[in-house]
Order: sequence, then C-alpha cells, then structure tokens
Amino acid sequence: MATHPAVVTVTPRGKLEVLEVPTLSPKAGEVRVRVEWTASTPLDLHQNDGHLLVTPPQILGDTVAGTVVEVGPSDGTSSPSLSVGDRVFGFAWRTKEEKAYQLYAVLPTYLLARVPSTSEFAGDEGLQRLATVPDPFVTAWHTIVTDLGLPLPWPKPQPGYVPPNADDTCILVWGASSSAGQFVVQLLKWAGYTRVLATASPAHHAALRDAGAREVFDYRAPDVVERVRAAGGVSHVVDCIGSARGSIAPISRIAKRGAVVAILLPVVVRDASETEAPEYAMDVQQAAQWEDGVAVRGVRTHHYLDKLQPEIMPTLLQEGAIRPTKLKLVEGKTLLERAQKALDMMRRKEVSGERLVWRVADSH
Ligand SMILES: NC(=O)c1ccc[n+]([C@@H]2O[C@H](COP(=O)([O-])OP(=O)(O)OC[C@H]3O[C@@H](n4cnc5c(N)ncnc54)[C@H](OP(=O)(O)O)[C@@H]3O)[C@@H](O)[C@H]2O)c1
Repeated sequence: MATHPAVVTVTPRGKLEVLEVPTLSPKAGEVRVRVEWTASTPLDLHQNDGHLLVTPPQILGDTVAGTVVEVGPSDGTSSPSLSVGDRVFGFAWRTKEEKAYQLYAVLPTYLLARVPSTSEFAGDEGLQRLATVPDPFVTAWHTIVTDLGLPLPWPKPQPGYVPPNADDTCILVWGASSSAGQFVVQLLKWAGYTRVLATASPAHHAALRDAGAREVFDYRAPDVVERVRAAGGVSHVVDCIGSARGSIAPISRIAKRGAVVAILLPVVVRDASETEAPEYAMDVQQAAQWEDGVAVRGVRTHHYLDKLQPEIMPTLLQEGAIRPTKLKLVEGKTLLERAQKALDMMRRKEVSGERLVWRVADSH
C-alpha cells in the first residue's frame, strides 16, 4: 500500500515525530488533497504539550491548503463538485485522514473552498494567505451565531441592512488581535453591528479600528476593566483567549446580568512553557465568579453550516468583505523541522496578530 509522511505527537511535551501513514483513496463525496501549505494553531500546543483530547500517535493540523489530486466516485449529491487540479483550502480536524500535517488529506468536499479567482490569491503566495483563514473564520462565524446567538444572515440582505436590535447590542471582543478575534471583528462589521469594543496590544489598535472596532483597549492596562465598563453596557463578549487569569477574570468583572459570554475552549489555567506543562479546564462556569444572570458558554467549533466553507468563506474573500490575517512563513529543511519550529515559536509566545504558515509538501 502507498504511504506518505505525517507529523504526529507521541508524548506530552515531547518532540514531534514523522510517521509513514497509508495513502487512502477518497470515497463518494470526498477528495484527496495534496497539502501544500498549512498554518499552526494554538491547538497544536494544547495537543502536543497538554495531550488535550489526544490518542497518540496523533496526526496534528487542521488547516489544509493545496491541490485536489483524486476525486471519489460521484454520488450525485456532493457539494461543491471538485475536480483534479482544483486549488482548495479548508478547516478539518475530525479524523486522522482529514488532518493537515501530512502530504495527503482525504476529506469531504463540504469542508473545502475553491481558491477565489482574484489576483491576490494567485500562486503559492495566494495559498499561503488563504491558509490563515479557515480555522479562525469558521470559529468566528460559529461563535457569533451559535454561542452569542447573533444572526449573520446569508445571503446578506440588501446594502444598508441593520441586524435586529443592533443599537442595543454592544459586543466586546477580548483578544481581538488573535486570528479568531480578527475574524470576529470583521464579520461583525460585515453583518452591520457597529457597537464593537476590543482589547489587544497597542500595536494592533489602528488595524482593529479599521477592521470595525469602535474602541480598542490595551488588555495589559491596569484599569482596562474600568475603561471597558465606561465605554458602555456590554451585552455580548467573545473571549478569544480563554485564559483563566488573562481574560476570563477581567471579563467576569465586566459582564453584567443579561450579558452573554462565549469563551473559546479550552480554559487555559496555566500556559504551556519551556519549563512547565500546561493545565487546561473545560468548565467555563467554574472558571470565574460570574454575576447572577450572566450566560457563559464554552465554544467548541464542532458544527458547520453546510455552506460555511464551500460558499460563504470564499465569497466573502472574493468580495473583500474579509481579509486574511498577516502571516509569518516558517522555514526549515524538512516537514518535521518546520512543524517543530512553529510549535516552539507558539510556546515562546512569538505570535502576535499573525499566523505561522509553513510548507507541508516538500516540492511540487
Ligand atoms: N474551541 C474551539 O472551537 C476553538 C477554535 C479555535 C481556537 N480556539 C482557541 O482560541 C484561542 C485563540 O486561538 P487563535 O488561533 O485565535 O490564537 P492566536 O492568534 O495564536 O492568538 C495570539 C494572540 O493572543 C493575544 N493574547 C494573548 N494573551 C492575551 C490576553 N490575556 N488578552 C488579550 N489578548 C491576548 C495576543 O495579543 P497581542 O499580540 O495583541 O498581545 C496574540 O495576538 C486558543 O486557545 C485556541 O485553542 C478554540
């Protein structure tokens, strides 16, 4: 049987390894993608250092950007229909066949988008840019709709559309320079929400205002809680960080009765570092002392609208309604070296307002 290399986590906090895994053919409704580029996400760190929801040896990676090399037999219902040679990108993580840190991923077509035809996404550089989008875009859309309960209508109604109760909806995006946060801010603007507050390091404030935040606060300021409170009654919060001390504690002092708070899981009780193992929790209620009447939800991006990746994501990119985040290319001689380097950079907290993007397939 044909095999191909895949990057796996084996022991908690250990070095990543490469395994040869079977190269499978796609079934009906699936395609096999040659993974050319991927982007590292904090989940890699949660999974390698904390072995969060891991059965070792486990292939890592949830972002695929590459080329369709094989199409499963037609069942007449698959959407979208893809062909060999199509350039695609998408977010997938459910099975080892779907995972991204391997030369070939086999996944259903509804988890993939065709690369938009605009020149900005042409060639290898276009795929690199697109690798920054799927995980945080899907997370942001899902969180706004499912966990905050705010509608994102599709297709978008006529220009000038204002969502119901927009005047009474004030959304705080904590950690808005994170990849997820950047898409939350962009999508809220696209949907017509104007009362958006954000926290981030000062270096990102101007870009976040351009993206749609009305006011941006430095989350490290000692009086950040008082400043956010003074800006107006926050009705909804997205915590894009999930840090027990760094985000959940201050948010619990901001959220008042009636507010809805969505926290991207896991709750990080202690960060991964070079000297200590990370500690995670899943119970967002217990993560802070919440005021009575605050609805707190832990976000798990486990559901999709069928149209989210094949239709909505590429359309919004094509129209320029959302922009990829900045990226930093991680170089290295081998697949393993690039994967390990990116993981180490995240552990050292070298990621600020950008995605770490690296090549999976070694050559064309
Ligand atoms: N449950 C789910 O379905 C799901 C899905 C996706 C992501 N997540 C989780 O969500 C979290 C964020 O993911 P991501 O990929 O968006 O992260 P990311 O882009 O890697 O986040 C890096 C950013 O975090 C910011 N940051 C760090 N500590 C902060 C704090 N205390 N307050 C405010 N900002 C802070 C930094 O801001 P500055 O540079 O401005 O300092 C940096 O720009 C991760 O824990 C991830 O695992 C969960």
